[in-house]
Amino acid sequence: MFTKKNIFYFFIFLSLLSETRLQAESNHKIAVIGTGYVGLVAGACLADFGHIVMCCDIDTKKIEMLNEGHLPIYEIGLQEIVDRNFQEKRLIFTSNIPEAIRLCDSVFICVGTPSDDAGKADLRAIYAACKTIGENINGPKVIFVRSTVPPGTVKKLTEIIQLNYQGNEEVIVAFTPEFLREGVSVKDFCHPERVVIGTHSEAAKKTFCEIFHKQYSKNIPFLLTSIESAETIKYASNAFLAVKVSFINEMSNFCDLSGADIVEVAAGMGLDSRIGSQFLKPGPGYGGSCFPKDTLAILNEANVLGVDLKVIQGAVDANEAQMSIVMNKLRRLLQEPLQGKTIAILGLAFKSNTDDVRYSPALKLINSLILEGAKIKAYDPEAMKNTEKQYPEITYTSSWKEAAQNADAMVLTTDWEEFFTIDLPELYQLMKAPFVLDTRNIFSPEELKQEGFIFDNMGHQKR
Ligand code: UGA
Repeated sequence: MFTKKNIFYFFIFLSLLSETRLQAESNHKIAVIGTGYVGLVAGACLADFGHIVMCCDIDTKKIEMLNEGHLPIYEIGLQEIVDRNFQEKRLIFTSNIPEAIRLCDSVFICVGTPSDDAGKADLRAIYAACKTIGENINGPKVIFVRSTVPPGTVKKLTEIIQLNYQGNEEVIVAFTPEFLREGVSVKDFCHPERVVIGTHSEAAKKTFCEIFHKQYSKNIPFLLTSIESAETIKYASNAFLAVKVSFINEMSNFCDLSGADIVEVAAGMGLDSRIGSQFLKPGPGYGGSCFPKDTLAILNEANVLGVDLKVIQGAVDANEAQMSIVMNKLRRLLQEPLQGKTIAILGLAFKSNTDDVRYSPALKLINSLILEGAKIKAYDPEAMKNTEKQYPEITYTSSWKEAAQNADAMVLTTDWEEFFTIDLPELYQLMKAPFVLDTRNIFSPEELKQEGFIFDNMGHQKR
């Protein structure tokens, strides 16, 4: 809810944005620390906005790769932007982080904050980055934290920078959470649905407006908040979406037994604008580098504060249980032990349009199948290399057809576009036995039935 003060800030900010739009002429020199999904997309897009960007990473191999024109990640549209800005010398890749800090007037911190063994956000990389920033500040600079961090962290980061800084000027640190979705992150960066800035500093607001004024239209809502609120907005948003996915997954399990069809149920629910139609697709469970880690991190923080977050805990528990539901479906389909069976897995990435396999449900499935003695033939358009690092023992194929050839069953785990057009009669011919488990509900039950498949899906009509 907007307080009067927030609304005031919001309008001041909008007018500041349009003033800056008219006045700003200079391009900025920006250091981006961290070249993962967040940092690389931010760096490349900021260079494309016309700024000089130094993308830094302590991983020298990654920097070498980038300087040779190879991206360490697959992200739609990114290669083109990187190539263009690299050639035009607006985008520089370096592992000399101190130099980048000294040469630039703003610093974006985009390093990873993965979960530690207890589910707590591991802040070692961001602490180290802030120490380096503090040691190298040589004039007025604004630091924007983009990494997802628990509430209260940015305050600590400011102290770390200040402690390592020899000068007397105030260090300005703002928190600007990113809401990028992998697979569409270039689009999300250039055309965000909202921008949240946690700061009370006029200089941070002004710098942010100058950096983004050319690209962001006046129609994008900007929300100015306290740093702690901005930190919490990020966690609350991801946790809410995780709850939504777990909710629809549980409803699909309910539909499996109640005779209802989850696709119809989700369509009916989604027409209520208070619910909305997005994030109502059931699946094998949410994965990726964000929902699993951020839900655990907020639960951890809540635990420290002595607050019980039962709904988020429920979403995490439901997500944990979803793979056993998938495995039970597969066992029921085959009605035989999985030992010695050849299972084709279509899709390894945690969702389509990415090569990211972090916390991917497909990898959980591989693990369970290996434990039961099944043989696996897997195919994914982009994520096989990353999967192979963890599971070198399974067979990787160059097409869905090769994976399906002579398989005892096929499990579809990721909704890549190319799987929507799988020729079902051909699939039937290729497989040894006609068992299909569609965990993303992409195949028409009527067509599967018509072709003679014995199949299951996630709560979708099978009558
Ligand atoms: C998520 C958020 O959507 C972004 O806004 C946020 O910036 C990002 O995390 C982050 O914190 O960096 P992302 O992890 O790329 O983005 O993936 P999503 O598209 O949100 O999907 C997450 C998981 O939920 C996937 O496993 C996906 O398959 C699953 N999902 C999503 C469903 O099973 N059903 C749905 O209807 C939607």
